[in-house]
Amino acid sequence: MFSRRTPAPHELNRLALALAARTRPFLDLTATNPTSVALRSGEADLFDGARSGRDARVLAALADARGLVYTPDPKGILSARTAVSNYYAAVHGALVPPDQIVLAASSSEAYGWLFKLAGDPGDVVLVPAPSYPLLDALAELESLTLHRYALASEDGFAVHAAAVEAEVRRAEAAGHRVAAVVLVNPNNPTGTSLAGAELSTLFALAKERGFAVISDEVFVDFRYSDRPGDVRIAASAPGAEEALVFSLGGLSKSAALPQLKLSWIFANGPAGLLDDALERLEWIADAYLSVSTPVQLALPKLLEHARGTLDAIWARVLHNERALRARFPEGGPVTVLPVPAGWAACLRVPAVRPEEDLVLDLLESHDVLVQPGYFFDFPFEAFLVVSLLPAPEVFREGISRVARCLGVPG
Ligand SMILES: Cc1ncc(COP(=O)(O)O)c(C=O)c1O
Repeated sequence: MFSRRTPAPHELNRLALALAARTRPFLDLTATNPTSVALRSGEADLFDGARSGRDARVLAALADARGLVYTPDPKGILSARTAVSNYYAAVHGALVPPDQIVLAASSSEAYGWLFKLAGDPGDVVLVPAPSYPLLDALAELESLTLHRYALASEDGFAVHAAAVEAEVRRAEAAGHRVAAVVLVNPNNPTGTSLAGAELSTLFALAKERGFAVISDEVFVDFRYSDRPGDVRIAASAPGAEEALVFSLGGLSKSAALPQLKLSWIFANGPAGLLDDALERLEWIADAYLSVSTPVQLALPKLLEHARGTLDAIWARVLHNERALRARFPEGGPVTVLPVPAGWAACLRVPAVRPEEDLVLDLLESHDVLVQPGYFFDFPFEAFLVVSLLPAPEVFREGISRVARCLGVPG
């Protein structure tokens, strides 16, 4: 009756069951929805309903009367693609022709389209571990086989081209075709990236072995420290015009507007191959036409006005990270991994009991919710992942409860 791509309704895991049964309130240190964490810019509450200037600007941008008429363009209307091109130039110094941009409703949808473009059922897509857990479902929905390449745990979970290459060769030796390699750049939740010469090495391998590189850059505007020679936008990096490389971005992070559902794909590659890819991608997009006209018309203004919101998020993340480091100082039983980018922090905690038991204890006895490392495929226990977005008072109290549960004095 049903396809094998959709899972049978299965029993909830212990954490989900505990959450479903909860009646007492708890502090949520997993909150990553920027519209529900009471962001403030100075004294002005950016998310305080229609009173805030920011909200008024978003609503005004969406009220363009041209949005009453439907004249779809599968790749996205030109003014919207030009706005993305201007964003790349202004924020990242990358020159991106609007012709090489395709709009989608979300990064998840963009992944789906690129998986359809690059892979046939059974082909392999390589993804990093630890990383963003949704990739399993997105690959499965396209009937692709998901293999993982490991980030270097001994090196702060750095992304290395050699680890990707080893997995490509392993998959090929087992008779698989590798259709695509996914970079999450910066990675969620470790904040680490593949950059510089290693990126060029990966592009050379992609060209030689014939796979596409998909670089998920939704957190690219949230980089707090860079390595020298870092390249932020993979599809504009040296060598990208030799392979087929797709950079993904979107409003959900770059303007903190996940509810508006607009993302983009920036494609690069050798002329013939790139033209072919763009034509096929346009054909896929034409089957959906999923991005609404009002949000496309609003895009230039939404991106233009995003800076204040991004500044508020930067301030929030850096503030909460400082509080976290103060509560878990270096040399103690809990190690806070560096946060080079993104909205999350990873804590290495003593592996004296399974992560799931610890997370359940935190919820049930301390009324605080965090994520266990295994959700993100950390290679060993024990890690906890916390969002750095919650309001500072919630965050401070939440991590104090985590510290008390772990017996960290303070
Ligand atoms: C690394 C990464 N990619 C993509 C997404 C999804 O973004 P979108 O809302 O555009 O689908 C997320 C969401 O948190 C994410 O963490």
